[in-house]
Amino acid sequence: MTSVETSIGILGGTGPAGKGFAVRLAKAGYDTVIGSRLAERGQEISQGLREHWSSHGIQLACLSGGDNALASTCDVVVVATPWEGAEETAASLSHNLTGKVVISMCNALMRVNGEFQPLILPRGSIGESIQAVLPESKVAAALHHVPAKELGELGEAVECDVLICSDSQEAADTTSELIGQVPGLRGLQVGGMSCAGPVEAFTAVLLQLNVRNKTRVGLRFTGLGNV
Ligand SMILES: NC(=O)c1ccc[n+]([C@@H]2O[C@H](COP(=O)([O-])OP(=O)(O)OC[C@H]3O[C@@H](n4cnc5c(N)ncnc54)[C@H](OP(=O)(O)O)[C@@H]3O)[C@@H](O)[C@H]2O)c1
Repeated sequence: MTSVETSIGILGGTGPAGKGFAVRLAKAGYDTVIGSRLAERGQEISQGLREHWSSHGIQLACLSGGDNALASTCDVVVVATPWEGAEETAASLSHNLTGKVVISMCNALMRVNGEFQPLILPRGSIGESIQAVLPESKVAAALHHVPAKELGELGEAVECDVLICSDSQEAADTTSELIGQVPGLRGLQVGGMSCAGPVEAFTAVLLQLNVRNKTRVGLRFTGLGNV
């Protein structure tokens, strides 16, 4: 169970996806640390976000920044780096991540001649690759399909379903709770990490729809009732 006393660290939190989730969690009252490879960059980005939202009447006192090592000392840690750096970043901080819930929002994609293509990874997904280098952590894969721009727009709901894969029920439940802090998002627990590959790869489909239709699509499932 999380509470506002649970701190959240975001590795690579200076990019649009990590920043978007960070401001949502900070607004909900979670102590949230934006991590970067450079401590100053994490600090600058978090300060900029605090100032920006303060000018819109929203105080993000719970938001701070520093390097990825600082972010990895938080209770729950989110990996929001590009896929190429995710495994190495997580592995380098494994000493701080033992026993913790780690959430990967990474997608392994390439853009070839303007077309997004999913990559087939040796372990099946980035989520499984991170779990492999963090055997003592409880890894969940989630948030792959949530558009970062909308995620970062405090004050607006993000109308999307979020698929959550994990071999740890604690990690899946923690991830569901955090996703539940973002108005409009509905977390859906899919089951184990064996489904993380198709979930991550499907991001290429959504991005292709955006490219072809000049849209910003979100995912909603029908037929689930009041889940
Ligand atoms: N953008 C979206 O709409 C979206 C939505 C859902 C999920 N995602 C996924 O979330 C992840 C982050 O997306 P993003 O668009 O925010 O990515 P991004 O801006 O390309 O990268 C995020 C941050 O990661 C750090 N970084 C860059 N290269 C790195 C490397 N090789 N090793 C370690 N850190 C590195 C950088 O921070 P520093 O330079 O400060 O270290 C950068 O600001 C991706 O895996 C993406 O697939 C994205």
